[in-house]
Amino acid sequence: MAIKTIIEPFKIKMVEPITMSTELERIDFLKKAHHNTFLLDSDQVIIDFLTDSGTSAMSASQWAGIIDGDESYAGSRSWKRMEKTVRELTGMNYVLPTHQGRAAERIIYSLLGGKGKTFISNTHFDTTRANIEFSGSNAIDIPIEEGKHPKLIHPFKGNMDVKKLEELILKYGSENIGAVILTITNNSGGGQPVSMQNAREVGEICHKYGVLYLQDMCRIAENSYFVKQREKAYENISYKAIAQEMMSFADGAVMSAKKDALVNMGGFLSLKDEKLANECKNLLIITEGFTTYGGLSGRDMEAIAIGLEEVFDADYLHYRIRSTAYLGNKLSEMGIPLMLPIGGHAVYIDAKEMYPHIPVDQYPGQTLAAELYLVGGIRSVEIGSVMFGKYDENKKLIPAEMELVRLAIPRRVYTQSHIEYVIEVFAEVQKRVKNSKGFKITYEPEFLRHFTAHFEPLK
Ligand code: F0G
Repeated sequence: MAIKTIIEPFKIKMVEPITMSTELERIDFLKKAHHNTFLLDSDQVIIDFLTDSGTSAMSASQWAGIIDGDESYAGSRSWKRMEKTVRELTGMNYVLPTHQGRAAERIIYSLLGGKGKTFISNTHFDTTRANIEFSGSNAIDIPIEEGKHPKLIHPFKGNMDVKKLEELILKYGSENIGAVILTITNNSGGGQPVSMQNAREVGEICHKYGVLYLQDMCRIAENSYFVKQREKAYENISYKAIAQEMMSFADGAVMSAKKDALVNMGGFLSLKDEKLANECKNLLIITEGFTTYGGLSGRDMEAIAIGLEEVFDADYLHYRIRSTAYLGNKLSEMGIPLMLPIGGHAVYIDAKEMYPHIPVDQYPGQTLAAELYLVGGIRSVEIGSVMFGKYDENKKLIPAEMELVRLAIPRRVYTQSHIEYVIEVFAEVQKRVKNSKGFKITYEPEFLRHFTAHFEPLK
């Protein structure tokens, strides 16, 4: 067909104004936020690419579901609907609702974790790692080698290195492995997809050694799109069936519904094993809420059930993945160094390459995040040594594997003209590269420092 433009497969029924600002105003806003984009007010932001989490626009059906939500403390109709949808998708019988993904993580990892335990993942997301380390356990990332090289093209850079997985299980002893966690798609590794073959092989190794296999499925629908496009055997299989097959290999799943369930709040934990599920339920009731609502309102659960159906719509997924790629490809053509190929929910820029004159201990990713904000009011997030850096005994920075900046695209929120604006802002930022400076950290907490750290620009 000659017509190439992929339009948003929806019409807009309700709008939310954007507060515009000038660069002069933004200089002041950023200074008051200690040069940390997390500390900006949303009204100070024009295009918010901080996260794709909880920022989706809900559909008319989801909003109708909000009105229809059943707020009963126990046995809510909305819970029944959510439970049925999640069971059907995951193939797991025990479903525990939670207020968001990390609540599910805290429950399962505090039970499985503790001193002496090791967790293995393609890449632990920051909250996953924090929950595991907080329990006293050790978290090891083993993405495939290709996944560590931003420019290298590979269809499934989110895959786990299965050879290393087996070596690590043997090295630590299967009884000391808390769990193996496959993050689908691999958020911290550049939003890259995981292949069906890899998800299956990870399962085979885990089950050979009797190790618990969990999937972080918060972007499972987006991952299914890549599997259908890139794994020959799946080209005629529906997105939902692909997701179902992938999850069939795992013993459990955690989900932040704030991503592919297209809602603003929610999550769950799904398990096959009744005993483990019962232990988790005890913690759920103590800290989140009764088993038929977790930390959620009935209306939230209603919207999750509807969102989990909508997200597998073929037109939606095509628009979603292709529009992310549209932004990425345009930036790439301009010579902006990116993590390639473009992932599902975000475009990741290689700040180390973009600012070769800024050493990693001066956080080049933070520089790009600040520049994008100053020039165009675009809020992004550093995924590099600010987020994942550690210190050695001499307080010297052990940098992260990569210095990335993420432009995470909220689902169904921005139109193509917003994206065109972002592309123009990049052209301006590019002109200022040589004069851009690094940052030093002036305040940081012990865990998840990127959320609240303060920075000072270097002279
Ligand atoms: N797992 C992954 C892969 C995630 O990306 C996130 C959140 C979580 C777990 C935790 O879920 O926020 O509902 O508690 N990611 C967001 C992001 C915050 O911006 O990527 P949560």
